[in-house]
Amino acid sequence: MMRQQIAAANWKMNLTYAQAEDLLDNLLQDSHTFQPHQSVVLAVPFPYLSLAKSKVTGKANFFVAAQNCYTQKSGAYTGETSAEMLQSMGIEFVIIGHSERREYFNETNAILAEKVNMALTYSLTPIFCCGEPLQIREAGTQNSYVAAQLEESLFQLSVEQLKKIVIAYEPIWAIGTGKTATADQAQEMHAHLRKTLADQYGQDVADTISILYGGSVKGSNAKDIFSRPDVDGGLVGGASLVAADFGQIIDALK
Ligand code: PGA
Repeated sequence: MMRQQIAAANWKMNLTYAQAEDLLDNLLQDSHTFQPHQSVVLAVPFPYLSLAKSKVTGKANFFVAAQNCYTQKSGAYTGETSAEMLQSMGIEFVIIGHSERREYFNETNAILAEKVNMALTYSLTPIFCCGEPLQIREAGTQNSYVAAQLEESLFQLSVEQLKKIVIAYEPIWAIGTGKTATADQAQEMHAHLRKTLADQYGQDVADTISILYGGSVKGSNAKDIFSRPDVDGGLVGGASLVAADFGQIIDALK
C-alpha cells in the first residue's frame, strides 16, 4: 500500500484577505498531475477558511485545514473555535500541537491529547506536530523526547482512531530559521517515530501512517527530503506563502 503523500501549507498568521485570495488563485491556476495517493492541504487562518473552501471546490486532491481547534465541544469560551464548527463547514484537516502553539499558548501534551480526541470526534484529520528544541537535539535525547510527545498525546487512541492521524515531525531548530534538517536526519527521526508507533500499535498500522517533515522546506530541497522512505511529504510555513515555491513542493511529492 502506498501511504498518502501530503504537501501541507501552514500560512500561520500571515496575509490580508485580498492577499489570501491572490495566493489561492495563483496556487490553483497551476496544473499539477496528481496521483490518487497525493494531497495538498492548505492550513489557512480561521477568517479565510470559507474562502479557501470555496476556492478548492471541484479541485480533487486539494483540502483545507484549520491551524488549531479547542478542547471543548461548545460553550462560553470566547475567541475559541470548536472542531464541530470546522466539521460543519466542510473542513477536513486540523493542525494540532504546532510548536508555536506549545510555546506561546502553553499547549501541553495532555491538552493536545484532548484536542486530538475532539478533532476525531468530529471526523477531522489531525495533523499532529511533534519535534524537539535545539537544546534537546544538542544533548542527543531527541528520540525519547519526541516519542514521549506521541505517547502522551496519541497513545490513548484505538487502532482505528490512530489510523486517521497524520504526524508532522518539525524540529524546532529548523522552523523559520532557514536551517533544514538534512534528509538523513529527517529519515532517521521518521523511522524512529514509525517504530514508536509500531511498538504500540503493530507494524501494519504504523506502515499506514503518513509522517510529514516540517522546518524550512523549500522548492529547492523538497525533492531530496521527500525521497526518503519514511518521509511522506511536508508541512511548509514560509515557502507556502509563495505560489511558485509551494508549486514546486507539490511537484516533489512521490
Ligand atoms: P517553515 O515553517 O517552513 O517556515 O520553517 C514550518 C512550520 O512551522 O510548519
